[in-house]
Amino acid sequence: LPLKLDYGYLAPDVDLDEVQSWQDQVDLAHKKVTQGGGLGDEYLGWVDPGKIVSEDEVATIKTLAAGIRESSDYLVSIGIGGSYLGARAVIEALGAGDGPEVVYAGNSLSAFDHDRLLRKLDGKKFSINAISKSGTTTEPAVAFRLFRDLLTRQVGAEEARKKIVATTDAAKGALRKFADEEGYATLKIADDVGGRYSVLSPVGLLPIAVAGIDIDGLLAGARDVAAATNSTDVTKNPAYFYAAARNLLYRKGYSTEIFASFEPRLHYVAEWWKQLFGESEGKSHISLFPAAVELTTDLHSMGQWIQEGRRNIIETFVILDGGEPEVLIPPSDSDLDELGYLQGKSLQYVNEAAYKATALAHRDGGVPNSTVHLSQLDAYSLGALIYFFERACGVSGYLGGINPFNQPGVEAYKKNMFALLGKPKFEQATQEVQARLKA
Ligand code: PA5
Repeated sequence: LPLKLDYGYLAPDVDLDEVQSWQDQVDLAHKKVTQGGGLGDEYLGWVDPGKIVSEDEVATIKTLAAGIRESSDYLVSIGIGGSYLGARAVIEALGAGDGPEVVYAGNSLSAFDHDRLLRKLDGKKFSINAISKSGTTTEPAVAFRLFRDLLTRQVGAEEARKKIVATTDAAKGALRKFADEEGYATLKIADDVGGRYSVLSPVGLLPIAVAGIDIDGLLAGARDVAAATNSTDVTKNPAYFYAAARNLLYRKGYSTEIFASFEPRLHYVAEWWKQLFGESEGKSHISLFPAAVELTTDLHSMGQWIQEGRRNIIETFVILDGGEPEVLIPPSDSDLDELGYLQGKSLQYVNEAAYKATALAHRDGGVPNSTVHLSQLDAYSLGALIYFFERACGVSGYLGGINPFNQPGVEAYKKNMFALLGKPKFEQATQEVQARLKA
């Protein structure tokens, strides 16, 4: 496997025997994830990465991506949450090739961001991928209208239709209806795949393929980890070990888990991870709060807090063991910068020392930590990492006793917002919310 879990620095808070004592619960959680019978088991379509997308769909995605790469300098990927973060995580981590630049809209309601992007694309050749499972989410729906309008003004309605791909439910939702009526190319989001588990489905794969990334490699990495994580033995299955250990630590009073990497290009992988665990586990007023830091950058800011702040945090490092460009520290005529001892060493070597030093220091400071090592960062290993965390998250949620596949809490702000905006059918709520805001 291209990844391995090192959990040595979880001890003395958690050790192998303690994790092993959870084997029965892990067996049950494994059964729920692989066979159903648990809360939310109508959303297990991601568990077998060989089935999340068919060969025909992969071929369609590649054809659509090739068309966009041929005709456009930009792809506007419109989506939010699970319909956005996975693709961005992969594209930013692996770096786009020579294809169109993938740009993102509809992941906020920022006038500044949308205005800036609309200006950037004015007069440019671009295509749109509107991604929404429900097809009714406000942020992407608004952005789709904005960019569809720009595209239509630029190339005319008929040409615009050919430059739009809608990724949405097979039958339901406004986007599906709209796409069918306008005759857009469409990709289907299966009923049994929820947003934050959908990066390896057409949701993530089209933008990723447009960026020139090897989607077969990504899926192969996921498939190989899926096969390896079918062992229920918690001492042998790194995803289950991680899931059990973080639950044990939560029960011992730790309340925050920090995803820490030493590579800025993993920024959106951390964002994706935060969404995966935050939206999956943040229920019933329990569970770890998922946070993230980028090191060594944040060692000069949040590092102080991690080392000596309140002792309620655990840390999960994601470390690249190799494959980085060789940047050697050059010789210098003088040693005025006092770096002679590093002459001829690579930045990767120095970064690795920083990681080892940090993991040890944080352990000494009372922060139990573990590390997911990737042999290198490519499509295959990233697919493996994604699946590792997805599988761990499903099992972790069941170990914690919640439904890892729904997100009822995200409706609360929507109700108030629709009321304030005067959306039809929210008239009663409008009065109530306005009265409370005045009070
Ligand atoms: O993980 C999830 O289910 C959510 O984050 C959704 O992906 C997000 O709310 C967007 O939903 P939709 O794809 O329906 O627009």
